[in-house]
Amino acid sequence: MASTTSIIQPGFSCGGALSSFTAKPRRVVMVRAQAINPDIKKDEAKVVDSVLVTELSKPLTAYCRCWRSGTFPLCDGSHVKHNKETGDNVGPLLLKKQ
Ligand code: FES
Repeated sequence: MASTTSIIQPGFSCGGALSSFTAKPRRVVMVRAQAINPDIKKDEAKVVDSVLVTELSKPLTAYCRCWRSGTFPLCDGSHVKHNKETGDNVGPLLLKKQ
């Protein structure tokens, strides 16, 4: 399915009793939903990972949020390449041990 872009032109007015109302220019973009997970555990209906905070072995642990890590659910830095290729700005979730 192709994406659709609708643009409401500046000065768009409603008719009838609201004829004095003028809408602000707005751009409405409808984008087809796409999977963000390219290939991690695709045989599962939902990917869920749990870690007890007390099990954190390092003072700082980075968890992947870009779905491109080769060590998922941990971040391996793959988000850097993804961001450069796509202009995206995703990064890991950092858990800090106290
Ligand atoms: S590799 Fe996915 S957030 Fe770092």
